[in-house]
Amino acid sequence: MPKKIYIKTYGCQMNVYDSARMADTMAPFGYSETDSPEDADLVVLNTCHIREKAEEKVYSDLGRLQRLRQTRRQAGGKMLIAVGGCVGQAEGEEITRRAPYVDMVFGSQNYHELPTMVASALQGMPSVNLDFAPEAKFDFLLEQSAKPDGTFGKSEFITIQEGCDKFCTFCVVPYTRGAELSRKAKDILAEAKNLAAHGVVEITLLGQNVNAYHGEGQGGKDWTLARLIRALAEIEGIERIRYMTSHPRDMDDDLIAAHAEVEKLMPFLHLPIQSGSNTILSKMNRRHKAVFYLEIIEKLRKARPDIALSSDFIVGFPGESDIDFAATLRLVEAVGYAQAYSFKYSPRPGTPAANDDQQVEEQVKDARLQELQALLTRQQTLFNHASIGRTMPVLLDRSGKYQGQLLGKSPYMQSVHVRDAGDMEGQIAEVTITEAHANSLTGVITGQAELNMRKFI
Ligand code: 5AD
Ligand code: SF4
Repeated sequence: MPKKIYIKTYGCQMNVYDSARMADTMAPFGYSETDSPEDADLVVLNTCHIREKAEEKVYSDLGRLQRLRQTRRQAGGKMLIAVGGCVGQAEGEEITRRAPYVDMVFGSQNYHELPTMVASALQGMPSVNLDFAPEAKFDFLLEQSAKPDGTFGKSEFITIQEGCDKFCTFCVVPYTRGAELSRKAKDILAEAKNLAAHGVVEITLLGQNVNAYHGEGQGGKDWTLARLIRALAEIEGIERIRYMTSHPRDMDDDLIAAHAEVEKLMPFLHLPIQSGSNTILSKMNRRHKAVFYLEIIEKLRKARPDIALSSDFIVGFPGESDIDFAATLRLVEAVGYAQAYSFKYSPRPGTPAANDDQQVEEQVKDARLQELQALLTRQQTLFNHASIGRTMPVLLDRSGKYQGQLLGKSPYMQSVHVRDAGDMEGQIAEVTITEAHANSLTGVITGQAELNMRKFI
C-alpha cells in the first residue's frame, strides 16, 4: 500500500538537506512525500534548537498534530509522529515526557535509521535514538548519491562537513550537531558528479563550519575547502559553486584566492561576525577582533571586487552596552552588506552565556534589533538598486506565480523575477535588471548567458 510522508523543516539549510535525505530514505519503503500533514501516514518534524522560538514552535506544532492524529484514529486510520533534528538531539526523552504521543525521537545523525524506527513504531514500540555516529551518516549519504532515480532541481546542496568545535558561548550547535567532522573529498566529488549527471548546474556546499573543511583527500592527505572547490570546478556541467556557513577564523588566503581564480565560485559570501564590539566578541568566544574581520573583507574585495557580503548578528548578548551596540552599527556601515540576518540573543540551556548574570532587558534587545534591521534593510535596498541597468547571469530554476514568469538567483544571491521568460526554465539566462525592491529584482532576458562571469563585472 502506498503511504505518505510529511516532513516539516525548521531552521537552517543543513536541515533542508537532511529532510530531503529522509524522504529519499523512506521512498523505497513505499512512502511518497505530501505537503499536507492531514493525509500523512508518517509526520516528521525536522527541528531546530538554535533559538528558543524555534524550539517552542515544535511543541505548538506537536499539539496540533496530536489533534490531527486523533481525528485520523477516529476514522480508523493511523499516523506516526517523529521528532528529528536538533531539538530531538538536545531534548531526547524530555520530548516523550512533554508529548507522550510522539512515536520516534531521533537526532541529527540518525535519520538513516528511520525505516527501522518506523517498523518498530508500527509494531507499537516507540523509540528514542540519539547515537552520535556521523561517520555512519556520511557513508549513508554516499549510498544515497549513487542512486540514479532521485529527482533533482537545478540547484542542489551537498553536506561536506558537520558539527563545530568552536563553542561560541551562545550556541547549541557543538552540542546538538557534535564535533566537527569532514566528509572524504572523493565522496563529495562522487556526489557532485552524480548531481551533474542529473542536470544539476549549481551546488551549495553545506556545513556549520564549512570553511573549516579538512576532509581526507587523494593520497590520504587532508584537503582544504579551497582545494575541494577547485576540484569541484573541474566537473563538467557544474557551473556555479557556493558554500555556507563560514567562520572568519577559517577564511584562509587560499580560499580568498579561490574567489579570484575560480570562475564558477559565485561572488557571494555569508560570513557571520555576530557583533562589532571586541568586548562582546571576546565574551562570545569568537576569538578574533573586529579589525581582523574587516581585513578579511578587504582581502576578499581585492580578490573579487564585486563580491556581495552577508552576515549574522546577535543583539543583546549578555553585557552588551550602548557603546558595544554602536560598534556593531559602525561595523555594518563600514562593510556595506548585500543582505544579513539579525537576531535577539536567546539564552539556550547548557550554553555558558545563558548563565551570565548580565542579561540584557527584552525592551533594549527589541530597540537594538529594530535599529540594526533598519540599517541592514537600507543597505540591502541600496545594493539591489545598484543592480538596475546591469546585465547578469541568472539561474532560472523555478516558475513564478504568473504565466510565463520564471524566478531565479543572481550570482549575488538576489532573487530575480523574469516575465515572458519563454522556455528558459532550468537555464542560466542573461538578464538585464529593470527594477529593484527590498527583497528582489525584476529583469528581462537579453540572451543566453555565457558562463564567463568576468564579462558581467
Ligand atoms: N541567540 C540568538 N541567535 C543565535 N544564533 C545562534 N545562537 C543564538 C542564540 N542563542 C544565531 C547566530 C548564528 C545563527 C545561525 O543563529 O547569529 O550565526
Ligand atoms: Fe555555533 Fe557557528 Fe559558533 Fe560553531 S562557529 S559554535 S556553529 S555560532
